[in-house]
Amino acid sequence: MARPRPLVAGNWKMNGSKVSLIEVESVKHGLSDITDVDIVICPPATLLSRATVVAGSSPVRIGGQDCHPRSSGAHTGDLAAEMLADAGATFVIVGHSERRADHREDDLTVRAKAEAAWRAGLTAILCVGETESQRRGGETLAVIDRQLANSVPDGTAPGNLVIAYEPVWAIGTGLTATPEIAEEAHAHLRSLMAGHWGDAGAAVRVLYGGSVTPENSAGLAAMPNVDGGLVGGASFDAGKFLGIISSFAA
Ligand code: PGA
Repeated sequence: MARPRPLVAGNWKMNGSKVSLIEVESVKHGLSDITDVDIVICPPATLLSRATVVAGSSPVRIGGQDCHPRSSGAHTGDLAAEMLADAGATFVIVGHSERRADHREDDLTVRAKAEAAWRAGLTAILCVGETESQRRGGETLAVIDRQLANSVPDGTAPGNLVIAYEPVWAIGTGLTATPEIAEEAHAHLRSLMAGHWGDAGAAVRVLYGGSVTPENSAGLAAMPNVDGGLVGGASFDAGKFLGIISSFAA
C-alpha cells in the first residue's frame, strides 16, 4: 500500500496571544515549495478565529486542542466541536496525555470526543502513548492496544482520524523516542488499525509526538510507519516548525 501523505501538526498548548499569530504567518510564507505535506496548527481556542483568518487560503489548517462530547449545554468552560468548526477549525486533538492526566479523561471519554469531532465534520487527532513506568514494565504495546481498542470509534477512515503516538515520557522532556522505538509502536498501531478496519484502517496516518525538533525529525521521518509529527514546543517557532515539516517532505 502507498504511504499516506505526511501530516505535521503543531500543538501550542496553553501558550500564545495575538502577537503569536506572526508564527502562523511565517509558516504560511515559509512553505514556498513544500506541497506534499499536510500542515495543521492548533493554537489555544482564544486564537482560533484569528488564526484561520491569518492562514487564509494557504495549505495551513487550523485545529482545536480538545472538545466536549456534547454539541451544547450547561458545561461551563468547555467547547463543543461544532464551536471549533464554527471558528474555522478543521481538526481537533483528542485524548492528549495532558488532558488524560489533568482532567482525568479515560478512553471512553476520548472516544466520545472523537465522535463529537466527526459529528462536527472535524478530523480527530487521537493521542495514545505509555508512561515511563509502563514502558519500564514492558507494557507499552499492551497499553496502546487498550487505548486504541477503547477510544477509536467505529467508522474510522483516513479522512476522519489521525493517530498520534506520544510516549508520555518523551513529551516536553527533550527525551525523544529513537526512530526505532517510534517505529516499533507505529508498526504495531498500523497493524492493529488494519486488523480492525482493513485498508481504511491501514491508511490512517500515525504521527509521532514527543520532543520532535528539526534536529531529530529526519531520523523519525525515515521510518516507514511514521507518517508525520505532533509537535509541541518546537511548533511555537515558525523556523523550527518549518524545519520539521521539510523533513517529512519528499
Ligand atoms: P513536545 O509536545 O513536542 O513539546 O514534547 C508534544 C505534544 O505534547 O504534543
